[in-house]
Amino acid sequence: MSLEVRPLHDLFGAEVVGVDATRPMTAEEFAPIMDAFETYSVLLFRGPVMTDAQQIALSEHFGVVQVAFKANQTGGSMFSRQSNINFETNEIFPADHHRMTFLKANMLWHSDSSYMDCGSLCSILASREVPPSGGNTEVVSTRAAYERLPHDLKNRIEDLTVVHSLSYARDKMDMSILTDEQRDAAPPVKHPLVQVNPANGKKSMLIGAHAAFIDGWSEEDSRDLLDELVEHSTPQESIYSHAWQNGDAIVWDNRCILHRATPFESTKYRRHLERTTITDRSWVAAA
Ligand SMILES: [Fe+2]
Repeated sequence: MSLEVRPLHDLFGAEVVGVDATRPMTAEEFAPIMDAFETYSVLLFRGPVMTDAQQIALSEHFGVVQVAFKANQTGGSMFSRQSNINFETNEIFPADHHRMTFLKANMLWHSDSSYMDCGSLCSILASREVPPSGGNTEVVSTRAAYERLPHDLKNRIEDLTVVHSLSYARDKMDMSILTDEQRDAAPPVKHPLVQVNPANGKKSMLIGAHAAFIDGWSEEDSRDLLDELVEHSTPQESIYSHAWQNGDAIVWDNRCILHRATPFESTKYRRHLERTTITDRSWVAAA
């Protein structure tokens, strides 16, 4: 069975048409969605606003849902809440609240959970309440970026290993965001810089804000290369910028997609999206 899709961008991404992702699916119904995910790297579903249970059900088709890091409002659950709303009071956080600093950290290009040992296959970000304007989520493909790298640079990065670190990324914003306990809970991890998709052999780069060092390199040399690769990956014309509507849900492949949040009038409008982050079942089995 093939899906009807509508491309989101020339290089990657597709809207899946005619599928209500809030409804239960059989494994057979899900198979073409997984194929489309491997091909397009980003899938958009438009439909009714998802409940938490519906989002978990969709997530479990892709793999094992990670428990969110403790620094999030929803830490310890399966959701990473992306919101300016304090759910204890139902009011918007004041501009100087530390949650607002976290939201700013999301504005750097990154791959979710790249700082975790088991990494992440994909994230699902689903809207519950969105502002009338602003707050787009931008995504870009490091698979497309890898393909346009000059041949010598491809050779140079082929066997490199990158050290990813949550505290490195957060400290660049503000040294006081993470507690010592949170730092200890997320020690640096290593991943190959060049990722190979096992379904189609396509190569991509696992880079972004958590990518702290090239293993064995100085900080200066590491920064030069890693910043160059992010810059190469993110020219304006290569970006898909998603303007959210209530009920939208986006799946992106964290092995080959970088994403970032963009500003909105966060002291005026409410914005609430929930993210699930999913690890491939085979990686969990191998761990
Ligand atoms: Fe993210």
